[in-house]
Amino acid sequence: MEKINGTYNNLELNLNGKILVIEISREQKLNALNHETLKELKQVIGSLENADVSGAIIIGAGEKAFVAGADISEFQKMDEETARRFSEAGQQVFELIERCHTPVIAVINGFALGGGCELAMACHLRIAVETAKFGQPEVNLGILPGYGGTQRLTQLIGKGRALEYMMTANMMDAKTALNYGLVNHVEANKEAALIKAFDILNKISEKAPIAIGLVVDCVNAVFDGGKNGYEIEASAFAKCCATDDFSEGANAFIEKRKPNFTGT
Ligand code: COA
Repeated sequence: MEKINGTYNNLELNLNGKILVIEISREQKLNALNHETLKELKQVIGSLENADVSGAIIIGAGEKAFVAGADISEFQKMDEETARRFSEAGQQVFELIERCHTPVIAVINGFALGGGCELAMACHLRIAVETAKFGQPEVNLGILPGYGGTQRLTQLIGKGRALEYMMTANMMDAKTALNYGLVNHVEANKEAALIKAFDILNKISEKAPIAIGLVVDCVNAVFDGGKNGYEIEASAFAKCCATDDFSEGANAFIEKRKPNFTGT
């Protein structure tokens, strides 16, 4: 068994017994996923199965956000090919989480928007605090979810609801997320949500690890027919990134103004 160690610029790792808490620590930017954070996440998740860890929790730093999306300042100037690779790279990291035989729980302590909602959905279970807000607001920027969101949101809450949230960019509160099956539990605050996550992971750690890993494989197999959907998503994401509307959407966000979309 390897020990999980190393220092990261955007992640704070804390091992509690055999449960690893992975905190995304870019609080000033609402824990937005920049390229480096995604790379660090890939490294940690990639080493989970071989480490002396029975479960992991992903959480955002601070009280305001789990993760407010991919870092908009980094991806506004991409051509179609770069955008496809960007989407596929994110999809790969999130698939690594989804397929991991070590159970991973997202504790959603605030905004889980765009890539943040996609990250939470890639985890095996989700525990939200009462004030959490979920959403796929990419159409506000002239793009669409590119880290598996079109597929996983539909899997979790159903087609009609997923289409509504992805097309309107509306935010979903924690109570609705619980009703729709987007989250497993809602707790009063961050501390209670963490306690719940630890309780569940401790319980799972008493079971046979090989069986737990194979449960993950079997459940993922239900959705394997959706594989093409991810390719279609990456292509669609890449096409959106090549539009003027995406430059306008991303610039408008950075400049803190309303976008003026032209359909080009
Ligand atoms: N990428 C980059 N920076 C982001 C970000 C993102 N996805 N989300 C938030 N930030 C930054 C803001 O630019 C701001 O930085 P600044 O202080 O240097 O100006 C800081 O985080 C705080 O965000 P702010 O917008 O001032 O907070 P708010 O309370 O007014 O609004 C949100 C909170 C979550 C509603 C708003 O930040 C938001 O809409 N974020 C983008 C969500 C999104 O579209 N995600 C999908 C991206 S694909």
